Amino acid sequence: MFDDVLPVRERSLARTDWVLGYPHRPEGWPGMRVMPGLELAIVEGLVRKATGCDRLWVETAPDGAQLNHNCIQLVGVDECGQRPHTDSRALCRFAAVLYLNPGAPDECGTSFFRQRLPGGQRGGNVVMPPHRNLVEALGTRYVPEDSFVEDLSIPHRFNRLLVYQANLLHSATAYHGRTQQEKRMAAVFFWMAKA
Ligand SMILES: [Fe+2]
Repeated sequence: MFDDVLPVRERSLARTDWVLGYPHRPEGWPGMRVMPGLELAIVEGLVRKATGCDRLWVETAPDGAQLNHNCIQLVGVDECGQRPHTDSRALCRFAAVLYLNPGAPDECGTSFFRQRLPGGQRGGNVVMPPHRNLVEALGTRYVPEDSFVEDLSIPHRFNRLLVYQANLLHSATAYHGRTQQEKRMAAVFFWMAKA
C-alpha cells in the first residue's frame, strides 16, 4: 500500500521514546506506543477516497483530550487479548489501522463483533447516539466474557490499511510475539469527517 512502510517500521523500532502501557503501567491501553507514526498525506488521501469524505480532522474534546492519532503500537501476546470496544463517537467517525510487522500471523488482524443476545441470537454491532462509546451504551466497562460474538475477521497483512467506521464493535483479533521484532506492530488513526 505504501512504498516506504518498511523504513517506518525500522525507524519506529529504533526510537527511544516509547511509552509503556498495560501491564507495565496502570494504563487503559496495552503494550507500548510512540507518536507520531507516519507522514499523513498519503494515508489521508486513501481515507478520503475510501470514505468519500473530503474533510478529515482530529477532534479535540472540551477538556482538551484527543485520541492517540497516528500512533504506533507494539503489543505482545502476553500483554493483551481481545477487547471488543468502539472508538469515541465524540472524537472520531472513522478509524484506521496499518499493520507494520511482516512476520505477524494472519490472525493478528482486526475483528468486528456483535452483541450476543440471550438465547445466542446475534445483536447489534454499532453504538448510536446518545451514547458515545460501548461503555456508555452498556452502562458498564465490565461485561461477561461471552457478551460478544465475532462477526468478521480481517487477516493481518503487512502494509494493509484497514479503514472502518469507528462506532463498530471491534478489537485486535490477537496479539503476537515476545520480542520487539515479533510483537504485533500497528499504526492507528482516528478522524472526524465530513463529506
Ligand atoms: Fe479501537
